[in-house]
This record gives sequence, C-alpha cells and structure tokens, in this order.
Amino acid sequence: MARGILCLGLVLLGALQAPAQDSLISPIRAPLLTSIPLQPDFQEDQFQGKWYVVGIAGNPINATRRARFKMYTTTYELKDDHSYNVTSTMIRNDTCDHWIRTFVPDVQPGQFTLGNIESHVGVQNYTVRVMITNYHEFALVFFKKVHDNYEFFKMTLYGRTKELSADLKDYFTRFAKSLGLTENHIIFPVPIDECIDDR
Ligand SMILES: *[C@@H]1O[C@H](CO)[C@@H](O)[C@H](O)[C@H]1NC(C)=O
Ligand SMILES: *[C@@H]1O[C@H](CO)[C@@H](O)[C@H](O)[C@H]1NC(C)=O
Ligand SMILES: *[C@@H]1O[C@H](CO)[C@@H](O)[C@H](O)[C@H]1NC(C)=O
Ligand SMILES: *[C@@H]1O[C@H](CO)[C@@H](O)[C@H](O)[C@H]1NC(C)=O
Repeated sequence: MARGILCLGLVLLGALQAPAQDSLISPIRAPLLTSIPLQPDFQEDQFQGKWYVVGIAGNPINATRRARFKMYTTTYELKDDHSYNVTSTMIRNDTCDHWIRTFVPDVQPGQFTLGNIESHVGVQNYTVRVMITNYHEFALVFFKKVHDNYEFFKMTLYGRTKELSADLKDYFTRFAKSLGLTENHIIFPVPIDECIDDR
C-alpha cells in the first residue's frame, strides 16, 4: 500500500513542479487549484468520520512558533443534502473547543466550498480539495482561502489513527515543499489524549 502511494506521489510531484520561484521577501504564493490533484471517484460516505490531524503545512504556518502545537481532530458527518458538518475539536487554554462549519460540494466530487461564508468575517473565498485518500488510513486535503484579499493555503495530513508511517509523513513533507513551502511551514502536531478522544 505505502509503496503504491509513494509511486503515485512521485508522479504527482513531477506534475507539480512549482512554476516560478518567489523572491525571498514575498510570501509564498498559493498554487493554482488546477495544479492540485483531486482524489478520483471520491466516496463521500467513506470519507466521513473522525480524522486526526497528523500534519499541517501552509503559508501562514510558523513551525518555530507552533513547535508544541497539540494534535486536534476534524470529524466529517454527511447531511442529507450531501454537505458535510465539519467539527474540529481542539484543546485551547485548557478547554476543549469545538469549531463547526459546513463544507458544500463544489464543481467536482471531492471539492468543497464553505457553507454560509458570509458568517465567516473577512473570508472571500474558501476551497477544500481532497487530494488523495484511502479512506481507512490517511488523507491529504488541500485548503485555499482568500481572506482580506490575501490567499492562504494549507495542506493537512489526516490519519484515522494518531500515528502514520514515516513514508506517509515523508511524502507529505515532500509534497509541501513542491508547493514552495519550507521546513518552517510544516508541523507535526504533538499527539494528545485529552479532549480529542472524548467523542
Ligand atoms: C516564527 O516565530 C518565531 C517565534 O515566535 C519568530 O521569532 C519568527 O520571526 C517567526 N518567523 C516568521 C517568518 O514569521
Ligand atoms: C449538523 O450540525 C447541525 C448544527 O450543529 C446539527 O443540528 C445537525 O444535526 C448536524 N447534522 C448531522 C447530520 O450531523
Ligand atoms: C487564553 O486565556 C487568556 C487569559 O484568560 C486570554 O487572554 C487568551 O485570549 C486566551 N487565548 C485563547 C486562544 O482563547
Ligand atoms: C473562488 O473559488 C472558486 C473555486 O471554488 C473559483 O471558481 C472562483 O473563481 C474563486 N473566486 C475568487 C474571487 O477567487
């Protein structure tokens, strides 16, 4: 399984060579959505359930500042209209917080936009794209958000368990770097038990 994923990974990486190098001072630009892979034949029902956030990489992430960032979970529940209720559960200030939003199917299966976007102050556009998943073990999900005219992007490595193989984490890291991100934009949150295992 892991070998197959890595082979696919290399193909994807080849297809994804970042077009132009940003100058050192400018922030890392978000890639075009069309350059991001999309899980073929996406199965909305199988993607449901709880995912541990095993890795995060993105242009607003500062790994130095977030060195002790604690693991959180994101749970997808399918509604009758094929949208997901998406609940992230994280410990913040010693309290267990839940953040709920809706992902609405977009132009292709596996791609979503944010429901009720008007209620998210400053957010002008929000796209979620499931890049690759085997549903039972891991998923790579890409997020792009336009906020106050600035494009943020991030990739998350989801696991059905808190630990994933070194191969998958390595693949995630290489993919992030192919988008122009550096080690300092990549974090592997510290696994915890409290709060995130409560539901
Ligand atoms: C990242 O965070 C560290 C520690 O808070 C800070 O010193 C550094 O300037 C930040 N780096 C960037 C690029 O913002
Ligand atoms: C989705 O979330 C809403 C509001 O939190 C809740 O009322 C509803 O029951 C949820 N639906 C599903 C299918 O989880
Ligand atoms: C954590 O608690 C402190 C003190 O009550 C507060 O000032 C701070 O804003 C809180 N941080 C978060 C992320 O809620
Ligand atoms: C918002 O994202 C969608 C893709 O979901 C894209 O078609 C549209 O052009 C974007 N709009 C803006 C203003 O960036």
